[in-house]
Amino acid sequence: MMTTAAASEGGFGVYVHWPFCLSKCPYCDFNSHVRHARIDQARYVRAFSAEISATAARVPGRTVSTIFFGGGTPSLMEPGTVADILDGIARHWTISPDVEVTLEANPTSVEATRFADFRRAGVNRVSLGVQALDDAALGALGRLHSAREALAAVDIARRNFARYSFDLIYARPGQTPDGWRAELERAIAQAGDHLSLYQLTIEPGTPFAGLHAAGRLATPDEDTARALFDVTQEVCGAHGLPAYEVSNHARPGHECRHNLVYWRYGEYAGIGPGAHGRLDIAGRRHATATERHPEQWLMRVEAAGHGLVTDDVLTRAEQADELLLMGLRLAEGIEPGRYAALAGKPLDADRIADLRAYGFVEIDPAGRLRVTPAGFPVLDAVVADLAA
Ligand SMILES: C[S@@+](CC[C@H](N)C(=O)[O-])C[C@H]1O[C@@H](n2cnc3c(N)ncnc32)[C@H](O)[C@@H]1O
Ligand code: SF4
Repeated sequence: MMTTAAASEGGFGVYVHWPFCLSKCPYCDFNSHVRHARIDQARYVRAFSAEISATAARVPGRTVSTIFFGGGTPSLMEPGTVADILDGIARHWTISPDVEVTLEANPTSVEATRFADFRRAGVNRVSLGVQALDDAALGALGRLHSAREALAAVDIARRNFARYSFDLIYARPGQTPDGWRAELERAIAQAGDHLSLYQLTIEPGTPFAGLHAAGRLATPDEDTARALFDVTQEVCGAHGLPAYEVSNHARPGHECRHNLVYWRYGEYAGIGPGAHGRLDIAGRRHATATERHPEQWLMRVEAAGHGLVTDDVLTRAEQADELLLMGLRLAEGIEPGRYAALAGKPLDADRIADLRAYGFVEIDPAGRLRVTPAGFPVLDAVVADLAA
């Protein structure tokens, strides 16, 4: 039988996408939509349940180790909607006793008042989009909350959840390394055991891309961006929150287990509009994706029982490339033997030797190949070199 990238690696995760936001942030190209009419959440629950059931029929008998409500803005879901979806998942698969259930939340006061209800619904971890601790920067990012409101939401998260995280965006227009250092220190004082720190990316097709192209939005130059990245590593490292992935920092043992399923190239189901999955079926690894547009997804599910628009069987070479692309994002790196088993050949020894000579990768004592702190700023080039 054809072996896949190993279903058991990192467990089985379920991603649930809630595609709605109160407003569209000008930098964001996620599958998120603003609707002025009321959203019929009961109708969405029925569609989510149908898609869970259709997916479970393809990958029965799994034990779910992680569930992630991502968006969009899942904190706009009614807690009852979250509870019903969790019930749907539990009806079709076994839930691990220590399952991680994360919900992404925007830190407005309205949403924070729901945190206790989300906890009662079964959520045990929240990830808050704080983005900045500076009101002018929040305004420039088009956010609907102030820094004070965001910190109040972090406080409510702390009181309701043993595990919480928040996101900041850095390398913002006009940001200096000293300014970022001070902001990050303030953030860490409020952080739990996990932080996500993303460099602002100018995504094609967003309002920020238009402004950037017109010369009206200046992002930091390469040297400043590198200095901002270095400040991030230094400050987080000093506070015991090293990067375990390019943009994610945690105290050891407090990593986001759901995202580890992706990066360790485990198996996961994608439920909801525009969700992606990797399913291991009869020895083959399937790459799945659902219809992105919320109402069209709804109609497809109501007609066919699922919203799948892509269901491709990946070749072993494609799986090997994905393993490399995902795994080298992690500080722990990859096991070269797993790559070789998929690719049918080992990684190119000469290329590894060159990258080691540059100090971009290393082989750890257990034989794992990993990118060094010096290599992370040029990760894309490292992966492209090894995959070629
Ligand atoms: C899809 S959002 C969901 C969370 C929630 N809707 C929010 O915005 O707070 C996940 C995270 O991606 C990050 N993000 C989105 N677009 C980005 C961009 N263009 N550059 C850097 N980070 C970005 C933000 O930090 C955001 O919190
Ligand atoms: S950043 Fe978050 S709140 Fe803003 S549009 Fe994207 S998903 Fe919605």
